[in-house]
Amino acid sequence: MSRKPKVVSELAALTKRIATADLAYHGQDTPMMTDAEYDALRLRVKEILAAHPELVADATAVEQVGSPAAAGFGKWRHRVPMLSLDNAFAAVDFVEFEARIRRFLGLKTDNVLDFVAEPKLDGLSISLTYEQGKLIAGATRGDGFEGEEVTANLRTLRSVPETLTGEAPERIEIRGEVLMAKADFLALNAAQAEAGDKVFANPRNAAAGSLRQLDARITAGRPLSFFAYAMGEASEEIAGTHWAYLERLEAWGFTVNPLRRRVSGGAEAEAFQTEMAETRAGLAYDIDGVVYKLDDIGLQRRLGFAGRAPRWAIAWKFPAEQAVTVLRDIRIQVGRTGALTPVAELEPINVGGVLVTRATLHNEDEIARLDVRIGDTVMLQRAGDVIPQILGILPERRPEGATPWVPPEFCPQCHSVALRPPGEVVRRCTGGLICPAQTVERLIHFVSRGAFDIEGLGDRTVAEFYEDGLLKTPVDIFSLAMHEAEIAVREGWGKLSAANLIRSIEARRSIGLARFIFALGIRRIGETNAKLLARNYGSFAHWRAQMLAAQMVGSDERLALGSILGVGPAVAEELMEFFAEPRNIEALDALAAVLTIEDAAGAGADSPLAGKTIVFTGGMATMTRPEAKARAEQLGARVTDSVSKNTDFVVAGADAGSKAKKAAALGLTVLDEAGWRELAGLPPAEV
Ligand code: IVH
Repeated sequence: MSRKPKVVSELAALTKRIATADLAYHGQDTPMMTDAEYDALRLRVKEILAAHPELVADATAVEQVGSPAAAGFGKWRHRVPMLSLDNAFAAVDFVEFEARIRRFLGLKTDNVLDFVAEPKLDGLSISLTYEQGKLIAGATRGDGFEGEEVTANLRTLRSVPETLTGEAPERIEIRGEVLMAKADFLALNAAQAEAGDKVFANPRNAAAGSLRQLDARITAGRPLSFFAYAMGEASEEIAGTHWAYLERLEAWGFTVNPLRRRVSGGAEAEAFQTEMAETRAGLAYDIDGVVYKLDDIGLQRRLGFAGRAPRWAIAWKFPAEQAVTVLRDIRIQVGRTGALTPVAELEPINVGGVLVTRATLHNEDEIARLDVRIGDTVMLQRAGDVIPQILGILPERRPEGATPWVPPEFCPQCHSVALRPPGEVVRRCTGGLICPAQTVERLIHFVSRGAFDIEGLGDRTVAEFYEDGLLKTPVDIFSLAMHEAEIAVREGWGKLSAANLIRSIEARRSIGLARFIFALGIRRIGETNAKLLARNYGSFAHWRAQMLAAQMVGSDERLALGSILGVGPAVAEELMEFFAEPRNIEALDALAAVLTIEDAAGAGADSPLAGKTIVFTGGMATMTRPEAKARAEQLGARVTDSVSKNTDFVVAGADAGSKAKKAAALGLTVLDEAGWRELAGLPPAEV
C-alpha cells in the first residue's frame, strides 16, 4: 500500500488546525498558538505539497492556506502617519518649492534656506517603534495610516538594532527604507529561477516580497538592509536640525546614508542633483532621486503638511528611463465614472529593470497629438511608480497602410453611445447604471483599500460575482452571507475562504464617514475631499440632509458647501449631480440601513477650535495667511472667507476692514493676533 492516505489525512488535519488558528487570530484576537508553532504548521503543509504536488489540486482547502499571505500579519496603526513626498523633476520645481516655503513663512528672498540632501532610496518604507530603547514593533507603510506588523521579520535584519546604543527617549518611532542591493537581487532571482520559484521584477519588489514572508526564517535568509532617515512620534525633542537628528540615529546604531550632504539654496541643490545622477549607476542599490529636507526642525513644524506630503521636503527625481517598442493595439478601458481611456498594448519591453506591456495614452487628443497608430514603433518612458508613458513615435518605422486611430462611438462594454461633451477631453460612456464595466469598476472602488477595504474581495472576484449575479450594487455585498454556501463551492473557493470573506465583510459593517463618502465613487471626491466633507458635516445624516438642501441654488446650505476650503465649484457640482439622481439616494439609504456610519471626529477634536468656523482678515506680523489657515484647519476649524452669524471667531490683523466691522456689528468674537496665537496654542510672539 502506498503511504499516500497517511499524508492526505495529515494534510487535512494540518489545514484544519491552521484554519482554526486563523479564526482565533483574526476573528477574536486571541491566538491559540504561538507564531512559531503556527509557522511550523504552515511549513509542514508546504513540505507535504512540495513532495506531493498532486495533492495541491484536489485539496482546495490547502490552497487557501497557502495563498493569502497577508492574512498572517496583524495591522499596525501608525501614531504619526507615514506620508509621501511631493516631486520635483527640474530646477524650476525646486525654485518653486523654495518660493513656497518662503511665502508660507513670510521670509525674504535673500534668506538662504538650508537643506539636508539624501539619496531617495528605492525600497519600501518601514516604521520602527522603540520603547525604553528596545525595539517593540516594526511595520510597513501600508496606506500611510495603517500598515502590516512585520516585527519578527525586521528583527532578522542586522541593520535593525534590537537595542539603541546610549541614551534613548522613552518612546520613539524611526522611519527608513528596507532595501535589497542590486547584486543580491540578481543572485536571489537566479536562485529562485533555479528552484522554479517566483522571480522578482526589481530589487524593490524583491525586498518587499522578502519582508512580507509569514515565515521569518525565509526573511532571515534574504540580504536586506535598513537605512534610517526620518522621524515619527517621539516622546521628547530629539534635535533642532534634521542633520543633528541623523547624527543621533547613527549614534543609536542605525545606518544612515553616508552620501547625505548639507546644501544651501537651489544652486547647491542642483549641483548635488547632478553629482548624484552621475554616482547613481555605480551604487550598490537603486536610488530614483534625491530628497531635500529643510534642515531646521522648528521651521519644519511651522510648515507642516499639505494633503499627504510635508511642505518642508521634496523628492527631486532623476529623469525617467526610456525605451523603444512596438504598439500592438489600442484598447479602451471603461472607468467607474464612464470615462473611456485608451491604453496602449505594447510588445513587452524591459525598461530600467521592469517589464512593460502597457502604457497610458490618456485621451484621444493625446493620440492625435502624437499621431500614434497601431503598428507604430513608439518611444516610451517609465519614471518611478507612474504608469509608463508614450513620448512619441519613430515615423520612419511606420508600417505601410497604418491608419489614424478613430475613437469609439460606442462603449465597448455596454454599447451605449460614447460622448465627448464640448470643452472636455474625456469621452464617456452614457450607459451609467446599465454599463457593466462602470458598475464593476464602482464595486471595485467601493471595496478598495481607502474605501471599505474588504479583504478577500479583489478585482477579479468582484467581476466574477457580478457576472454570476451575486453582486449588482454595493449593498448586495452586505447580503453575501446568504450566499456563503454557494460561494464555498465556487471554483477556487472553499468553506474556509468563503467564511473568511463573510467575516471580513461583517468587520466592515461599521465604517467612518470619510471612508463611506469616498467609497461612493463620486467624481472628484477622492480621499482628501471625502475627509474634508466628513470633517465639515460630521455625521451621515447631517451630510445627506445638507446635500439635499444644497440642491437649491443660492440656499444657505449651497453657500456653506461652497465655502468649505478646498472644495471648489467643480467638486460641489459633482456632489449636486450625484444627489440629484434619485437612484443614488436610494442606493445611499439602502447602505445606511445596513451599516453603522460613524461620525467623523474633526481633526484636533479636543482643541478649542474643533468644529468652529473662523475668518481671517487683515495682516499678521508673526505668520502669513496660509500658515494661519493651515494651523486652524489642523486644529479642526473650518476657515471661510465671509463673516456671517455662523462665524465663531474673526481674527482681525492690522488694517482689518469691513469684515471686522461686520463681525463687531454681529456681536461675534473678534480676536487680535495675540488672541489668535493663544487660541491656536502657539507661544506668544517675541517682541
Ligand atoms: S523622508 C515625511 N527620505 O520616498 C517624509 N523618504 O515619496 C518622510 N524615501 O514613502 C519621507 N528615500 O519610502 C525620505 N531619504 C529619504 C527617502 C525617502 C526614499 C521614500 C519613502 C517615502 C517615499 C515618498
